[in-house]
This record gives sequence, structure tokens and C-alpha cells, in this order.
Amino acid sequence: MKTKELAVCAALALTCGSAIAGDAESAFRGKRIAEANCAECHAIARSDAGANPRAPAFGDLGKLRSLETLRQEMLGGLFLRHAVMPDFEPDATQADDIVTYMESIQE
Ligand code: HEC
Repeated sequence: MKTKELAVCAALALTCGSAIAGDAESAFRGKRIAEANCAECHAIARSDAGANPRAPAFGDLGKLRSLETLRQEMLGGLFLRHAVMPDFEPDATQADDIVTYMESIQE
């Protein structure tokens, strides 16, 4: 293995090695997904107000239900059942990322 490749591996181990860094990255990806697909209706940050008053704020979802259940439901077609929401079908990683992000903003 070349020296340059070794340096890249070392850098990756540093950024992705710890669970905390992994969570931060997952939450960051979840936020990007939420901004692109959910912010149109939901309040996705702790402080903002959602555009659609019927859509629960992401910061309150943990009070309404278990986020782990929600993760399962998102994989099981939650979005297809809700008429108002877009037919968004996250894969397992995207569902993890969205839930990790939601956990990070619970009040
Ligand atoms: C077009 C508006 C709209 C968009 C976009 C939207 N939602 Fe919703 N969402 C709603 C509304 C309105 C509700 C309240 C329930 C209902 O009326 O269907 C809701 C409810 C929910 C609920 C609670 C569902 C339940 O069964 O308790 C979750 C979780 C949720 N949305 C997540 C998301 C996520 C994650 C995204 C982005 C991938 C998203 N929503 C995008 C409008 C939207």
C-alpha cells in the first residue's frame, strides 16, 4: 500500500472511527434529507415553525411516539399511508439518518 493511501485510511479512521462522529454524520445526512423532502410542511429544526399546521414538528415527534417505532414505520410505508406526505420510500440508511437527526433535536 502506498503512503498516500495509508494516510487516507488513517484520516478515515479518525473521522468515522468513533460512534459519536458516526452519529454526527448520520444526523447531518438526516438533516439534509429533511431539508430537501420534509421542510416544506414540517418544522424540522428546534426553533422553526412548520408551514403546514397539521404536520407535527420534528422536535416534538419523540413525545408523540417512540422514534425507534417510527424508524420501522418509515421502512414499512408510513409515507404511502399518509395522503398529504410525498411518496418517500427511504432505504434503511436514510431511515437511520432521519431518526438520528430527529433524536438530535428532541426538546
Ligand atoms: C406536503 C407536506 C408534507 C411533507 C413534504 C412531509 N410531511 Fe410529514 N406530515 C404531513 C402532515 C400534514 C402530517 C400529519 C398527518 C397527516 O395529516 O397525514 C404529517 C405527519 C408526519 C409524521 C407523523 C406520522 C404519524 O403516523 O404519526 C411523521 C413521522 C412525518 N410526517 C415525517 C415526515 C418526514 C420524515 C418527511 C420528509 C421525508 C415528511 N414527513 C414530509 C405533511 C408533510
